[in-house]
Amino acid sequence: MGVIVENFDSSSGEDVSVLKEAVYRDKIVVLKGQDLDPKQFLALGTRLGTPETYYEPIYHHPEVKEVFVSSNVSDGEKQVGVPKTGKFWHSDYQFMPRPFDLTLIYPQVLPTRNRGTFFIDLTKAYENLSEELKLAAKDTTAWHSVRRYFKIRPSDVYRPLSEIIDEVDARTPPVGLPTAHPHRRTDETILYISEGFTLSITDADGREQPELLRELLASTGQLDREFEHPAIHLQTYEKGDLLVWDNRSLVHRALHTATNEPAVSYRVTVYDGQEA
Ligand SMILES: [Fe+2]
Repeated sequence: MGVIVENFDSSSGEDVSVLKEAVYRDKIVVLKGQDLDPKQFLALGTRLGTPETYYEPIYHHPEVKEVFVSSNVSDGEKQVGVPKTGKFWHSDYQFMPRPFDLTLIYPQVLPTRNRGTFFIDLTKAYENLSEELKLAAKDTTAWHSVRRYFKIRPSDVYRPLSEIIDEVDARTPPVGLPTAHPHRRTDETILYISEGFTLSITDADGREQPELLRELLASTGQLDREFEHPAIHLQTYEKGDLLVWDNRSLVHRALHTATNEPAVSYRVTVYDGQEA
């Protein structure tokens, strides 16, 4: 899965349009040797589509709010960004009415080892389903919520958990999408479920189908705790790498180093086009 690109020039319109074709074809593009400041990184996002600022301000870069910061480093007294993000299978903004089309990750400070991202291609997952499971998934709805992975903020200390959960549900109510639906650009069918954000699957009569959800998740490889399922691809990073991926086709899961070495990564997320 994925392609590696050398000598990419983020200010070249031609390079950016080739990048866009490549990301929908190959799902992941690794741009090598990039040297961009946060504003230039955002500018690349703007050339690919419309960057969206994350709904929770604790993740924002202090100068460029559209840049989401994953970091275990504090700046003196102040924590910048949020540590240990995304350590569960998900697609970015899957719990929102409109998930992002493209995700750009640009690691800034890399630990010596064990920093990467696992990926699974949900269009391949659909293709590989048995005819029986394809039929069972037809006309069902998958419901997505951030509830299980919402990160408690410093201001939440001493608040009752039930109050926080009610607030999460009021602000980001579960979103239902057809379990299998076509990709807006490629028309491939996506089995759009994740272990982290998909709460349930309901049939055409609104009845929950927990066993179907479990079987579908298992078939994608997302329930493999050893990460040995053949569908799982691990992408590791070198300094200067900038990753762009198709966030609607792929689920991903961060691999964080177990040591307490510093790790900082920037992310920009983009809508490609107007329609949902
Ligand atoms: Fe993510």
